Amino acid sequence: MADAADKTNGPTPEALPKSEPAGYFEGESMSRRRAFTVAGQAVGGLAGAIIVLPAVGFALAPIFKEPDEVWESVGPTSRFTADTYKPVVFTLVEGIGEAGKTTAFVRKGTSAGNDPYIAISTRCAHLGCPVNFVAAAKSFVCPCHGGVYDFEGKVIGGPPVRPLDRFQTRVRNGQVQIGPRYSVTSHLQPVRYRDPGEYTGGIWNYIYPPRPDTPPPP
Ligand code: FES
Repeated sequence: MADAADKTNGPTPEALPKSEPAGYFEGESMSRRRAFTVAGQAVGGLAGAIIVLPAVGFALAPIFKEPDEVWESVGPTSRFTADTYKPVVFTLVEGIGEAGKTTAFVRKGTSAGNDPYIAISTRCAHLGCPVNFVAAAKSFVCPCHGGVYDFEGKVIGGPPVRPLDRFQTRVRNGQVQIGPRYSVTSHLQPVRYRDPGEYTGGIWNYIYPPRPDTPPPP
């Protein structure tokens, strides 16, 4: 009766031989199968890195590339005073003719400021319309949606979200020269150049990153 029960239930688990991988021996820290698995994953990871890393580098490289700076004379220092702005036209991007030209309002800096000359972009910080300087009101007015900026270019009315952009300035051989464009925060602190409508202060620096090919602030 007991023999019949054994035949029905089969051998107990303890009695079965262990099903180890081929070549396995007692005391081995890593089986051959495990070793092949790890090696396969390593080769796969290496192949993936070879494919992905160049693409990532290609995508990120423009962020770290510093473009060549273009400086252009816009007149002798005697042309500009501290109490009003003069409009100037100059080349912002070389090699594309008239399309590379832009305009700015330039004045002499005050003794309180750091810049000897102030060059303010005519491009509205809302959607980019050209602003006008109203000498009588000492302010900049945008004809598109009524944006108004004070004498420093800070927003005092309308939809713009930040001050007007500026350009670097310097004096060479008695000539005022204008260089790369940069944006400013509401405290007129320089930041990397932004497109119209983008905030520049605080956390917005990171939410709206600058263009990859734009120059650093002075
Ligand atoms: S573009 Fe200047 S206020 Fe809208």
